[in-house]
Amino acid sequence: MAKVFSVMGSPRKGGNTDILVGRIAEGAGAAGAGVETVRLGELELRECDGCHACWRGRPCSKNDDMRLLYPKVADSEVLVLGTPVYWYGPTALMKAFLDRFVYFNCEANRPMVRGKRAAVAIVLEETHAETWRPVVEFFQRSLAYLEMDLAETIVVPGVGKKGAILTQPQRLEEAYRLGSRLAGNGR
Ligand SMILES: Cc1cc2nc3c(=O)[nH]c(=O)nc-3n(C[C@H](O)[C@H](O)[C@H](O)COP(=O)(O)O)c2cc1C
Repeated sequence: MAKVFSVMGSPRKGGNTDILVGRIAEGAGAAGAGVETVRLGELELRECDGCHACWRGRPCSKNDDMRLLYPKVADSEVLVLGTPVYWYGPTALMKAFLDRFVYFNCEANRPMVRGKRAAVAIVLEETHAETWRPVVEFFQRSLAYLEMDLAETIVVPGVGKKGAILTQPQRLEEAYRLGSRLAGNGR
């Protein structure tokens, strides 16, 4: 059974990212995956400052909730990353989370993420591709650098207000099916 670990990177609980990531997790769970989701806004995460203690075989020097998240990332077969677009980038929460992946950027820790399947879920108010494309590229390039396999991407533009994504049931159905695919090995 695939373990799908989802990371919800909006500070807005019950908002569009939360709903979208929730639908992906539901689809994965219904297809037999083990699912766990965390909301970064409910956790304490400090910034990576490049001290590289992790590269010297030590635990991360920041004694915060990332110490709980590293093993969850490592133990999962699939990592789902959800964020709204904030000023043409991901949220500060999601950026802080991914900055801490410096931990996996050394030979000793790289096997914990190498080849791991990932999915990215992005929401935004605007509808221009120019707005969300840099965010997709940020994930594509970062995950590729870490030798991870970005298997699925879903972008839902045109959703600004909290819960606006509920007016796009077809996109939520798409997210559900994406989740089902993540549960298996097929694409
Ligand atoms: C600080 C901030 C910056 C934002 N920047 C953008 C932006 O650059 N482009 C855009 O289309 N929407 C932008 N938005 C709108 C959010 O992407 C949109 O409201 C989204 O649905 C929020 O997702 P959530 O409900 O999961 O928090 C911004 C919202 C906030 C609060």
